[in-house]
Amino acid sequence: MAHTVNGKRAREGGGAGVFVLSSPAELARAVAGRLWGIVRERGAGPVHVLLSGGETPRKAYETLAAEPYRGRFPWGSVHFWQADERFVPAADPRSNRRMIGEALLSRAPAPLENFHGIDTSLPGPAEAARAYDAELRRAFPEPPGGVPRFDAVVLGVGEDGHTASLFPGSDALAEETALALPVVGGDPPVPRVTVTLPLLNAALRVVFVVQGEGKANALRDVVAAFRDPSLRSPGIPATLVTPRRGMVVFLADSGAASRLPAEWRSPG
Ligand code: 6PG
Repeated sequence: MAHTVNGKRAREGGGAGVFVLSSPAELARAVAGRLWGIVRERGAGPVHVLLSGGETPRKAYETLAAEPYRGRFPWGSVHFWQADERFVPAADPRSNRRMIGEALLSRAPAPLENFHGIDTSLPGPAEAARAYDAELRRAFPEPPGGVPRFDAVVLGVGEDGHTASLFPGSDALAEETALALPVVGGDPPVPRVTVTLPLLNAALRVVFVVQGEGKANALRDVVAAFRDPSLRSPGIPATLVTPRRGMVVFLADSGAASRLPAEWRSPG
């Protein structure tokens, strides 16, 4: 399959495109460009985008909120959702909602009612997960296959291979029905709410964003499993994100990509 990244045609290999960017700034531009491309391709009507938390995507969200994307992005028709949240108050520096707010929503002309956050003012993560699940089901009434189909999903990968707040060996990895669940684990070590694999695997496009040499082993293992499905494992949760009808791309900086064999990279 061929597609365009940064204006160049690129061929995908091994079931997923792997694009290596020379710096974190280039990586941020590639993520913003990719999101803009996906949203433009979807045309009119609501477009749903699921956003990862953590630190890596901050720069990408800031880039999307700045020119040239700011003026081109159809903010009014895009709905932003959270992939996961640390169960802390929204003003807490560890809050993913806060990061998305600072980097994207406060900078871009995005209607606030188009942001669908995980509500940490509820009594606990179980209530927040239930409320988020219900909001997802309301926003996607009668989706094909019974599971909301996101147009774009942005995900990070942890050094331990986690993604969203799906941690190695977690029971949440076996979930087949709920769209969001309360979980424990991760760094910072706070209770969390995460979307589940059925939701991620119904997505049309998944964009993994991986930065820094500390992620090099994790990225190599995750990409290896995209090339050889026998390597998928609950020990490396990101390997279980394999959308049935969707396309996966990995955007990585050169540090994160430093352990990828050259032939695993898509020409770009
Ligand atoms: C979170 C995340 C998480 C993140 C990875 C990578 O709340 O921590 O959403 O899944 O994407 O841990 O995080 P960094 O990009 O900060 O390394």
